[in-house]
Amino acid sequence: MRSIAVFNQKGGSGKTTTTVSLSAAIAEYGRRVLVVDMDPQGTATNWFGIKDAGRGIADIFISVRSLVELVRPTAVMGVNLVPASTWLLGAEKVLSWEVGTVQIFSKTMTSLPHGQWDYLIVDCPPALGILTANALIGVEEVLIPIEAHHLALPSVDRVITSVESLRNHLNPELRITGILACRVDSRTRHSKNIVQELRSRFGDLVFKVEIRENVRLAEAPSQGQPITLYDSQCTGARDYRDLAHEIMAGEGEGHGS
Ligand SMILES: Nc1ncnc2c1ncn2[C@@H]1O[C@H](COP(=O)(O)OP(=O)(O)OP(=O)(O)O)[C@@H](O)[C@H]1O
Ligand SMILES: [Mg+2]
Repeated sequence: MRSIAVFNQKGGSGKTTTTVSLSAAIAEYGRRVLVVDMDPQGTATNWFGIKDAGRGIADIFISVRSLVELVRPTAVMGVNLVPASTWLLGAEKVLSWEVGTVQIFSKTMTSLPHGQWDYLIVDCPPALGILTANALIGVEEVLIPIEAHHLALPSVDRVITSVESLRNHLNPELRITGILACRVDSRTRHSKNIVQELRSRFGDLVFKVEIRENVRLAEAPSQGQPITLYDSQCTGARDYRDLAHEIMAGEGEGHGS
């Protein structure tokens, strides 16, 4: 099973849109996907139309339930979800930065039956707190979405520094799957320049696929459907299918660095 955390500490960079859309696109290719919502905002949980999340993932921190007990079905074929709720805020407050605490998620991942899911994809909150640390210590890969906007570039450097530090200390397996340019408006020179700068600074770490600005992606959450179901042929659905394809091409090999 590949495990990928979608993370950028900058708010509104496209983490949840990428988590939900990519998971649904990968599942269309026949892979089984477990989405873990690690964000107290519960945006991915709402997007999947789950109204009664209960304590969800918070239970691994506050009542020591195992991850597998918290898995829910979704209306999307091939996609399961571990939901989040505001209980996660309470859990975050009582947890302290200790080695055992940041490894709770990684330990409970071992409760997942071998071979049941091909991908585990974690939607992280917009901060490098204890919840994100748990995610980044549990997974093997990080996908960094970035809004194609000038001010957003330094946030990528910060994520890379955090990944390097975790790799040196708590998770030597961690690697970057790729940096994803989101909300690219190909009609403007500004947006093109940002993507060009990303590519010249980070080279092959940047996915070939770019996610274009697409209003259907912004509408989909309120319909409780991933983009691939809400509007199967829109540019948002096609871009995320291309991303799924690019990521699946790396199955069985460690790519990125
Ligand atoms: N390609 C796109 N086209 C149009 N709108 C988009 C696109 N990607 C994301 N958005 C919109 O941008 C906003 C932020 O996206 P999203 O919620 O995915 O970011 P996030 O990084 O998860 O935010 P947060 O840090 O709050 O968790 C949302 O309103 C979303 O609908
Ligand atoms: Mg989000």
